[in-house]
Amino acid sequence: MTLAEHIVAKSATVGIVGLGYVGLPLAVNLARAGYCVTGIDVSREKVAAINCGESYIQDVAAERVSEQVQAGRLHATADYDGAGELDIIFICVPTPYNESKAPDISYIQSAARSIAAHLRRGQLIVLQSTTYPGTTEEDVLPILESSGLKAGQDFCLAFSPERVDPGNRTFTVENTPKVVGGLTPQCAELTRLLLSSLSAPVIVVSSPRVAEMTKLLENTFRAVNIAMVNEMALLCERMGIDLWEVIQAAASKPFGFMPFSPGPGPGGHCIPVDPHYLAWKARQYDFSTRFIELAAAVNEAMPYHVVSLVGDALNTQRKALKGAKVLVLGVAFKKNIDDARESPARRVIEGLLKEGAEVIYNDPHIPRFSIGGDAIYPTQAMLASQPLDAATVAAQDCLVILAGHSAYDYAWLVRTARLIVDAVDATRGVEGRTGKVVRLGAPL
Ligand SMILES: NC(=O)c1ccc[n+]([C@@H]2O[C@H](COP(=O)([O-])OP(=O)(O)OC[C@H]3O[C@@H](n4cnc5c(N)ncnc54)[C@H](O)[C@@H]3O)[C@@H](O)[C@H]2O)c1
Repeated sequence: MTLAEHIVAKSATVGIVGLGYVGLPLAVNLARAGYCVTGIDVSREKVAAINCGESYIQDVAAERVSEQVQAGRLHATADYDGAGELDIIFICVPTPYNESKAPDISYIQSAARSIAAHLRRGQLIVLQSTTYPGTTEEDVLPILESSGLKAGQDFCLAFSPERVDPGNRTFTVENTPKVVGGLTPQCAELTRLLLSSLSAPVIVVSSPRVAEMTKLLENTFRAVNIAMVNEMALLCERMGIDLWEVIQAAASKPFGFMPFSPGPGPGGHCIPVDPHYLAWKARQYDFSTRFIELAAAVNEAMPYHVVSLVGDALNTQRKALKGAKVLVLGVAFKKNIDDARESPARRVIEGLLKEGAEVIYNDPHIPRFSIGGDAIYPTQAMLASQPLDAATVAAQDCLVILAGHSAYDYAWLVRTARLIVDAVDATRGVEGRTGKVVRLGAPL
């Protein structure tokens, strides 16, 4: 049987390298579609959790994992010894940036080297990690070909970006269309065939570079629009206009407008990171991506703006930031998720501490939160989420809402707190907020 026939018959075996926010949902969904899936992760804790039928990712229910483990369609391992027996291998490892915001593709390179050691004829390798255009052909391909096999001839190679949106219940891996770019038409077709089993449409583009650029266009689009609306927020504060009301009104236009919300700045593994991958690659072509640089500058300034808003809010009550008791609500990078990577809360808390405030935080999704350890705030600390009881709330000089989790009772918070800075308009519609809540993007 050919690989295409194996894919159609669901007898193809699939490996997922990197069982994180992207890899685990993909592994579970391919297992649910009927494939035998092996997850490979360097984290022994994650491997043990999967094999026990547990989930460590909020969007993946533990029952979904245990169901597939018990059915024998999903198992995990920390070594690559069996990689040669797999028909298809997805690479879903992290792509962070370093301290100078240059791409760090070392995880991709390491995964590719481990796969190359076991590569055999007829396999399909698909890179899913978000990265700059050219990575699949310029970085992954030579590592895989160091095995002596030829890409596009002996084995297939493709890029297919992940579009998972943590916390989004409407659009999941199952119903979000996928984009695929293969080294050859056959590489693309085999990837399309497999991903079609997840039921969402698959769009095939002409090359891995087009697919890589597609993902970066999507994320840069978000970063630039968020920056634009963040700049509007600063202007509206100065002009005494409520931007939240403006956005609602503008969103009534059925064409040509898409609402974006201002806030303390974007976070997560994608929006603050991915555009820098493109900016870095563009410099190799003597090209300066001005929108990306400008958007990053505006977005990265937002946590500092929140710190000054807290100072302004306390000032209205004749209080100083120095010595003030401040409770930060929500350190996840957005509402209702358990991911705090690149969260703007970090810079907000560090900024408040620098100004001499006494800061604690609460987040039902993030039990521990680490700050410091870099040039901006060298002192490292691991903070723990504090209980959100009436005594704690009433004892604070100011509450700062950074992620508008649905778990919070905003009416109760407004009644109980002395003062609130709301960076995400989470208190919208709550009675009695006027005079007590200072909102980002609205008159003081
Ligand atoms: N998180 C998201 O919402 C999201 C959305 C779309 C795309 N992406 C992209 O997907 C990629 C993965 O992101 P993530 O959020 O899933 O990361 P993650 O950190 O949650 O998971 C990555 C996993 O890879 C494992 N790993 C690292 N090196 C390895 C190696 N050599 N071999 C095997 N396992 C290894 C890690 O232990 C970890 O479990 C990134 O490129 C990211 O930009 C993420």
